Amino acid sequence: AVRNFSKSAIMANAIKNVTVIGSGLMGGGVAQTFTFRLAAQTGHNVVMVDVDDGVLSKAHERISTSMKRVAKKKFGDSQEEANKFVSDSLSRLTTSTDSTASVKNADLVVEAIVENIDIKQKLFKQLDEAAPEHTIFASNTSSLSIQKIAQNVKRKDRFGGLHFFNPVPVMKLLEVIRIPETSQATIDSMLAWGKAMGKVTVQCKDTPGFIVNRLLVPYQGEALRMYERGDASIKDIDTAMKLGTGYPMGPFELSDYVGLDTLLFIIEGWAKDYPDEPLFKVPESLRKLVSEGKLGVKSGEGFYKYN
Ligand code: CAA
Ligand code: NAD
Repeated sequence: AVRNFSKSAIMANAIKNVTVIGSGLMGGGVAQTFTFRLAAQTGHNVVMVDVDDGVLSKAHERISTSMKRVAKKKFGDSQEEANKFVSDSLSRLTTSTDSTASVKNADLVVEAIVENIDIKQKLFKQLDEAAPEHTIFASNTSSLSIQKIAQNVKRKDRFGGLHFFNPVPVMKLLEVIRIPETSQATIDSMLAWGKAMGKVTVQCKDTPGFIVNRLLVPYQGEALRMYERGDASIKDIDTAMKLGTGYPMGPFELSDYVGLDTLLFIIEGWAKDYPDEPLFKVPESLRKLVSEGKLGVKSGEGFYKYN
């Protein structure tokens, strides 16, 4: 009976087919979370798209490995049931290198490609021509304006931001961002989908960094400036913020985790658009590390060394 379905479950049902474009760190995480939360139980489908075949097979492999681990926990005694769970779930996950073909059946497109405004605008223009009328488009951008990303798109009422956090399967938050044209029905669908993904949603307007990055990135910049002035060491600043405020990582550990190239890219973009904002000034020590190829955890060295 309909009574058994919550309002959000009914609305999430409207989003059955999700296409994730860009299947790197974030897109792979979104596809993984969707596969785990929805695909197995409710017959939803997810397509992972990337220009790079290697990225797609890596993402598929990662999801498949975690799925097997979960199945083993869930159906410890029955290998047969475990195998069925894995194959049923994975049958709802497909991959593609053709972004326009991949949106033909999509109810929602989540874009998580490279943080470059021209490439994102070009992609959405193509998708706008290829996707069905009702399809909702969302960008997972960290720092770009959603309005600018949507510039060439006609369906502006069905466009918004869905900003996930790294690592996607673990971080509970989803920021839902509206542009002035976004319809309430689109916001409602995005909120319901976020909830069905197991996330806690917050809403905000399309301003630089939305909520989290508008506070987090200046904080990371201030930590760098504190270190550059010689006020305290990297290690002591990290220890202070972990033990003094309960953050799981200090600002330098977190910068290494996010990627120093990504952080630099965000700050440089904002510094260009808002030259008078002192909190958006580019810290020289960050520029130096990136120019030396020290990008944090992913390159083996940033503020710290990793094996
Ligand atoms: N994918 C999937 N699962 C993961 C994972 C990943 N990448 N990393 C950790 N996990 C899981 C582990 O499997 C483990 O699960 P179980 O409890 O079921 O075994 C659980 O998370 C805890 O893992 P660990 O014990 O290894 O790690 P931890 O307790 O040290 O926590 C952390 C790791 C979650 C990354 C934690 O250090 C943390 O919260 N750090 C801060 C992260 C953060 O602030 N992220 C936001 C960055 S900003 C951003 O993303 C926005 C942007 O636009 C740039
Ligand atoms: P990533 O480099 O791991 O993945 C991006 C993927 O997009 C790559 O695999 C690349 O091959 C693919 N790609 C590039 N152009 C494409 C195109 N035209 N069509 C299809 N695929 C294409 O990057 P990421 O860290 O996953 O970031 C993706 C997006 O998510 C960015 O907008 C970023 O700002 C945002 N974001 C990142 C984080 C983070 O902590 N890294 C957190 C939140 C949001």
